[in-house]
Amino acid sequence: MKNSGWTRRESLAGLGAGAALTAALTSSCTKQTSEKKAEAKVESGPPAGHDRRIAWWRQAKFGMFIHWGLYSVLGRHEWVMENEGIPIPEYEQLARQFKPKPNAARDWARLAKQAGMKYMVMTSKHHEGFANFSSKLTDYNASKQGPGRDLAAEFVDAARAEGLRCGFYYSLMDWHHPDGAICATDEQARRRFVDYIHGQIRELLTNYGKIDILWYDVAWPLDAAGWESEKMNNMVFQLQPDIIVNNRNKLPGDFSTPEQRIVAEADKDWESCMTMNESWGYHKADDNWKSPKTIVRNLITCARGGGNYLLNIGPKPDGSIPEESVKILTSVGKWVDKNQSTIFGAERCNVARSSYCNFSRKGNTLYIHVYDWPGDTVAIGGMKTKVKSARLLTSGHDVKVEQDDVRVRFTGLPATAPDPLATVIAVECESEPAQDMVEVVRKGRKRFKA
Ligand code: GLC
Repeated sequence: MKNSGWTRRESLAGLGAGAALTAALTSSCTKQTSEKKAEAKVESGPPAGHDRRIAWWRQAKFGMFIHWGLYSVLGRHEWVMENEGIPIPEYEQLARQFKPKPNAARDWARLAKQAGMKYMVMTSKHHEGFANFSSKLTDYNASKQGPGRDLAAEFVDAARAEGLRCGFYYSLMDWHHPDGAICATDEQARRRFVDYIHGQIRELLTNYGKIDILWYDVAWPLDAAGWESEKMNNMVFQLQPDIIVNNRNKLPGDFSTPEQRIVAEADKDWESCMTMNESWGYHKADDNWKSPKTIVRNLITCARGGGNYLLNIGPKPDGSIPEESVKILTSVGKWVDKNQSTIFGAERCNVARSSYCNFSRKGNTLYIHVYDWPGDTVAIGGMKTKVKSARLLTSGHDVKVEQDDVRVRFTGLPATAPDPLATVIAVECESEPAQDMVEVVRKGRKRFKA
């Protein structure tokens, strides 16, 4: 698969990477709006009430992303309309063919719960422009087309039935709306389009009760001034005083959104969103699935960096979840269930270096997640903190600790991994666990001493 020099991973990343494409397109298409940039008042920090509104989310750590729309009918990635150059009238036919089974979202919510996820975010409208919700502003919506009912309402009910928080993803970029591109250079078009987008957001945040998250996406072809993003956020907070919003309407929002990678941003709330294969929307032929072990490691890495993990499913057009996603999430869920105290409510953790362990932390307790089990002894270099005691988390067995100036060793461990995904050693420390490879290991070893 990798012999062409242009792998599928690279090509999909290139084709689907909205952010990069947006940057390229934005620079060529926003002449007029870039003039407005100077006038734009750019918010520098999160919106008012940030700590209060986001408190639940900081604990929640793990969410389900759902990409579902007309592209699911074709099953060739959610960018199929753009990437295959499908003409709008041809693509519109899909709206009649999209006939999901009733309440498919119930299965998503049950699976999310089982996987240990605490919230769900569904595409209310992706770049294709089709609204999964009832909209008075366009007939290109689920109630008026094939589904014949409001899929956003079903989604919200399903999440609530499982006690999960729920949010709407909403794409600002719109390939279907006649003003969706020309708005960059035609002020009247921009006025109409921005009123439409603000209007749809108003519908989403008015008609479904309490919504916990608004997840904007791709702001092409306008900037914050062009989108009137401050006004947009003000409306959002007026309609939903407890909601959190992301940063993709070109304002900082309540959290940032590294995509397909984990970046622990300093002094900021952040959420890594990721696919389980390589596509967000259903893609029949995409079989490049991440293993449950990779997903668990990613979740731990997010917890370690004080962030969240938003993991995607791309349901089929009937709403059913691809079998492989069910399998992966089921085994991830078993691990999360046994090890939940190491993830939920975890705080940023300074200990990070190991070739076979990952880490998370709560107060003075360090959780060592051993993903490649070395056998009798696990050793960590550079610990600056005195270790008081250690135990295997799930069995509760005490673990022997030997600590000197440069390393701490946990010995007498079983020969084979108790949990093949990751076995956790819970370590009680005298103070907040910290690791310093340079001061403690490099300079601490005898050969560096005078
Ligand atoms: C990108 C893609 C989009 C996907 C999103 C999720 O912006 O354009 O298809 O919905 O990322 O973060």
